[in-house]
Amino acid sequence: RDQELEQLLQAHEWTSKLYHYLLKNTEHGKPALEYLRSRGFNDKAIDTFQIGYAPARWDTLVQFLDKRSFDLSVMEKGGLISSKQDGTGFVDRFRDRVIFPLHNRTGKVIAFAGRIMGDGQPKYLNSPESRLFSKSRTLYNLHQAKTEIRKTRQFVLFEGYGDVISAWDAGVHNGVAGMGTALTESHANIMRSLADEVIVCYDGDNAGQAAALKSIPILEGVGFNTKIALLSEGLDPDDFIQKYGAERFRSQVLDGAVTSVKFKLIYLKKNHILLEEDGKIAYIKDALEIIAPLSSPTEREIYLQDLSTDLQVSFDSLKQECNELRQTMQ
Ligand code: UTP
Ligand code: MN
Ligand code: MN
Ligand code: MN
Ligand code: MN
Repeated sequence: RDQELEQLLQAHEWTSKLYHYLLKNTEHGKPALEYLRSRGFNDKAIDTFQIGYAPARWDTLVQFLDKRSFDLSVMEKGGLISSKQDGTGFVDRFRDRVIFPLHNRTGKVIAFAGRIMGDGQPKYLNSPESRLFSKSRTLYNLHQAKTEIRKTRQFVLFEGYGDVISAWDAGVHNGVAGMGTALTESHANIMRSLADEVIVCYDGDNAGQAAALKSIPILEGVGFNTKIALLSEGLDPDDFIQKYGAERFRSQVLDGAVTSVKFKLIYLKKNHILLEEDGKIAYIKDALEIIAPLSSPTEREIYLQDLSTDLQVSFDSLKQECNELRQTMQ
């Protein structure tokens, strides 16, 4: 194993401990601790996820690493610190942000995400891609969730760090998150090596629902049985848990997750105006495009029944049209 990599891993470990300590034990960390508590993150969650705080100063981490004889140019390449514009030294990358350490599968810290407290851009500042950290292959919390995932052969896939943490606190210990909404095939493959079923639990806003739709072919492409959780009022899972509690999150949101086909139909319906005949007809046409390719006749029947009841169109005519469409697809 090469030395540079070892150094970076060790520096990430130390940095994570430093930020966690500063959050919990210093005056500087108080506002950040208040911020976390106001969001409903308790001490246990803060410890379990090693949440920290990067102070508002320019050189807290630079000094800390320098004192411990880390090679600062290596640290810069690893994304922990940045070079000054005039090239005369280094400054901290994360300043005045709440810090979420990101771990690899074996539990080593490989990157950080820093959330601004309050409004401002970017909301989350992440470590850059480095020899340790690849966004497209990292799943937040996989190192802690993998035990439960192996046991249940099931994942819950969230959008954000806060969602994973609140869900964990709510007793859902098989939750992970991608780095934002862009789920990659690598993510899917990593997940598939541990489980057979996934519940996609993305935010209830338009961006989240669109991302959920996009995730379906990626997840089904690697053979996952894929379900989608529905969140109302544009809430994200974290918001939902804070507002309605753990019990309702599990029984209503997770247990109420729908099949990917049902989700596509719900999504489609939201994007059609069904007041007029032509809107209804267009919706039915698009819905049949989703139902007709299904190989199981009973599955097709179930969705056609739903559609028939919902739109008050006879089951027989829907079935006939569906079969005609199937012919043209073969
Ligand atoms: P969201 O905008 O849904 O944020 O982005 P959130 O997780 O609900 O955050 P809070 O509750 O406002 O604190 C979902 C995820 O997208 C990534 C992060 O991983 C975030 O958790 N993201 C978002 C970024 O990396 N950078 C950003 O600026 C915003
Ligand atoms: Mn601790
Ligand atoms: Mn979101
Ligand atoms: Mn969110
Ligand atoms: Mn949120």
